[in-house]
Parts: sequence; structure tokens; C-alpha cells
Amino acid sequence: MKLEAANLTKSYHQHEVVNIEKVAFGAKGLEGLIGPNGAGKSTLMGLLTRRIAPTSGQIKLDTGQGARSLNPLKSHEVARIGLIKTNQRIQGFDSLTIRDSLRLAASDPKTEGFMSIFAGERDAEDIEERVSRLIEAFPFTDRNGYARSGGEKKLLDILRCLIAEPKLLLMDEPTAGLPDDITRTVMEMVREKVAGGEMRVVVVEHDLPLIWEYCDYVHFLSEGSILFEGAPEEVKANRVVAEKYMGV
Ligand SMILES: Nc1ncnc2c1ncn2[C@@H]1O[C@H](COP(=O)(O)OP(=O)(O)O)[C@@H](O)[C@H]1O
Ligand SMILES: [Mg+2]
Repeated sequence: MKLEAANLTKSYHQHEVVNIEKVAFGAKGLEGLIGPNGAGKSTLMGLLTRRIAPTSGQIKLDTGQGARSLNPLKSHEVARIGLIKTNQRIQGFDSLTIRDSLRLAASDPKTEGFMSIFAGERDAEDIEERVSRLIEAFPFTDRNGYARSGGEKKLLDILRCLIAEPKLLLMDEPTAGLPDDITRTVMEMVREKVAGGEMRVVVVEHDLPLIWEYCDYVHFLSEGSILFEGAPEEVKANRVVAEKYMGV
């Protein structure tokens, strides 16, 4: 699995917010992307998933069948080949129940050419079981109804991404706005899926202890550029990271 960007830039009104010579994600199981507020983390994730058009640069994804340029693709086409991002609110959570949102995400075709018409009864049963298991793992106020609070909607967005079984999932501040115990359950689930080889994950987080605990590799972004990357211990001990981010 390799998601690669080269000479990637994004400017808003002559102001360059991303300028990355080269970066690759997906080599390690669970990777962190950290950096100060306004560093360009969300913009980078938007660029990688084709939700934001770059000013210049190339993005390539290799899911094991050879590298493919993402530049000509739309974000829903990128999703189909297995790269998705949390925080995308495609269909409103107000019109679908929690269960239906998850059913829909679980039954979306993952690869082009797949025809859901062939999904038999056993697949449908399998989907119901996966949906139920996921719902029961969390204390939704109304498990048979709608996501109520902002926190529940945020959680549902993450669960939708997980049940869609992407090959590479980008998570933008998954823990912001969620209670600690839920964050933990989510991260343990993610870790299990990653360890089982089901998917790779890149997570943007300000909660550094969580980054150090869960990530196998960490990229440090500052003012739109990757300034340092390495194992969590290396990033933690790096002077530049400490000066620019941890206020040491
Ligand atoms: N749509 C936009 N229009 C103008 N400026 C933007 C837009 N989106 C982001 N920016 C600016 O780009 C910079 C990086 O933002 P962002 O990617 O959200 O950073 P981060 O996620 O690291 O906090 C910030 O200075 C932000 O104000
Ligand atoms: Mg952000």
C-alpha cells in the first residue's frame, strides 16, 4: 500500500498552505500526521482524497495492483479504489438512521465492476451482523434511531468509514469532541483492523500521547511542509518538532 504525493502544492489567494516535495503514506500500519494548527494537515488530507484540487503536483495510489494516478479521479472514484477520509458528510445523518447509514456504507461497491445484484442473502446477513456488532459496541442514545448529538454524528462518520472497509483510511482528528472511553474503543478497533491486515490508517491528532501509543510511524507537518518523520520515539525526541510544536 502506497499513497504518494510529489511536488504537491495548494495556494489560497496567493498564500501557499501546502508545499510538499515528496511524502508517502501507507507503508506502515498506523501512521500519525501531526503539526501545529494551520499547518495544512486537513488540506493535505483533502488533496490526497481529491476533495480539494491541488494548485500543482501528482498523487499516486498503489493498492497492490500497480500505481495509479489519482489526479484525473473524482473523490468518489478514489473512494471506490479504497481510499477514504473521515469527516466527509456525503449524505446527511438526519435523513438516515444509524443502522441505515451503516448498512449503506457496508454495502457500497468497493471495486469497479462489482455488481451488488450478485450480493446474495448470505452477504446481506453478514452485513446485518457487522452493523449490529458495531452499533452495540457504542452507547448511542437511540440505537434504532438517529445519531443525535454532534459527538454521535462524528462517531457515526468514523464507523461508516470503518464498515466500508477501505484499504487506506485517513482520519482527521477522530477524537476531537468524543469522550475518552469512546476514543479508546475506536482506536482499539482501528488497531485491530490494522493488525489483522484489513487496512492501513493515517491519523491526524493533537492528542500526542495517543499518537505515541498507537502509531507505528509519524509525519510532522509544519507550515505546509513535512519537516521530519520517523518512529514515534524519534519524532518525540526531535528538536525541530519540539521547538515548532511542543513548545519546548
Ligand atoms: N478554503 C480555504 N480558503 C482559504 N484558506 C484556507 C482554506 N482552507 C484552509 N485554509 C488555510 O490553510 C491553512 C491550513 O489549514 P488546514 O489545512 O485546515 O490546517 P490544519 O488542519 O493543519 O489545522 C490555514 O492557514 C487555513 O486558514
Ligand atoms: Mg485540521
